[in-house]
Amino acid sequence: MSNFDLVIRGGTVANSAETFTGYVAIRDGRIVAIGNDLGDAKQVIDATGKYVLPGGIEAHCHIEQESSSGLMTSDDYYSGSVSAAFGGNTCIVPFAAQHRGQRLSDVLELYHGRAAPKSVIDYSFHLIVSDPTDEVLHEELPKAISEGITSFKIYMTYDRLIVDDSQMLDIFAVAKKHGALTMIHAENNAMIKWMSGRLVDQGHGAPKYHALSHPRTAESEAINRAVALASFVDAPILIVHVSTEAGARIIAKARYDGRKVFGETCPQYMFLNAEQMDLPGMHGAKLCCSPPLRDRASQEEIWRCLQNGTFQVYSSDHAPYRFDETGKLNAGPEPEFPKIANGLPGIEMRLPLLFSEGFIKGRITLNHFVALAAGNVSKIYGLDHVKGSITEGKDADIAIWDPDVTREVRAEDLHDNMAYTPYEGMTVTGWPTTVIQRGDVIIENKELQAKRGAGEFVPRRTIDCTGMPGRLAPELDPAKNFGVELEL
Ligand code: URP
Ligand code: ZN
Ligand code: ZN
Repeated sequence: MSNFDLVIRGGTVANSAETFTGYVAIRDGRIVAIGNDLGDAKQVIDATGKYVLPGGIEAHCHIEQESSSGLMTSDDYYSGSVSAAFGGNTCIVPFAAQHRGQRLSDVLELYHGRAAPKSVIDYSFHLIVSDPTDEVLHEELPKAISEGITSFKIYMTYDRLIVDDSQMLDIFAVAKKHGALTMIHAENNAMIKWMSGRLVDQGHGAPKYHALSHPRTAESEAINRAVALASFVDAPILIVHVSTEAGARIIAKARYDGRKVFGETCPQYMFLNAEQMDLPGMHGAKLCCSPPLRDRASQEEIWRCLQNGTFQVYSSDHAPYRFDETGKLNAGPEPEFPKIANGLPGIEMRLPLLFSEGFIKGRITLNHFVALAAGNVSKIYGLDHVKGSITEGKDADIAIWDPDVTREVRAEDLHDNMAYTPYEGMTVTGWPTTVIQRGDVIIENKELQAKRGAGEFVPRRTIDCTGMPGRLAPELDPAKNFGVELEL
């Protein structure tokens, strides 16, 4: 009788804060032992010369989601999760988007119904809250949080999604009270509309002008405001997809000041720039995302802020819209840039790009790679009890990376439902050649072995702010405000 279902031996095992050589033993989907020569197993994987790392957790992706204008992403929970798995991920946290007038319970039911029969890897959801009515704030959000949906995204731009400052305060207060994290798309709506209107009116409607229409200051103004509002009530926030050094500096300062602020950036801001949008015809539309691509200097700055820890989270923001009438060109064959669907694909390339250009090229350590791939996200988003490290008792979610594989990136080799990748032609070193989800090998020899619907919903824990500094504004602090105990 074998003790274990699977043993991985011979590889270099790494977590966010440790690296060792040893055996990893798995039984009933969990890691049950780590050590030397652990004995028999039904299956043995020899990982000599490879890195045995926690499966990636992709915590910002748009899968089978209607945009605020009703456009469906090209990936559903099958193609999106398969593509994620081929890119070394074993868990995704896409968005369940509330459109105005919808009940959150209906939204969640819809997305559970979309994910459960199709996802090949485990999943959770962040809510998008666009309509914070009293019922949403005081009944529906607390209920969703109690069901393990412990984060939600809000938008400071887009007419159909935007929440105003007072609504932001309401949402932060609920998040703080019930242990949730608010993710913020921080861009100043008025500045974007003002610039877009002038550019289009003056004949600059081609895709590349999208980059000009979202000024850097629109991002930094909104981040500054979001940090001020959240800090006022001492609620934790995460500023997503930061594209500018100015924005990053606000996050760094807020953290230095003892505020509960996290930052996320994405590969597009490290590997791409707006010059690449200057393409013939409508091809620049493939690179329209918000916030937009910036310049080469920004790419270096964003890399630096990833290296120095200003960004704790590195996500793809996979928002797949095909370059045809179902996606980027849904408003016609030659739309002006404000009518082009925003978003880039990247769920499969997120980790290979970082492994190659970050770890292999010596910009970040192996442990930092693991932290950005899975470890930090598992802690920040309440998944740490089951995922994010190779530790006894946790789910056996593992990606085995071969540093000797060199690949040229080609859209036709990827597994999403897109026909292009912004990273076409790049050469990357290192690839996740074996991927294991709860003890089952789901990718091996470039083949998918997972079954449709094998992924499970993972209820997440409330956000743990223990050990994080923070303080209420003096006007809200009974020690400093004549003893007034204001209910937030
Ligand atoms: O352009 C982007 N990033 N589209 C996806 C939606 C969002 O705001 O993250
Ligand atoms: Zn966003
Ligand atoms: Zn997004």
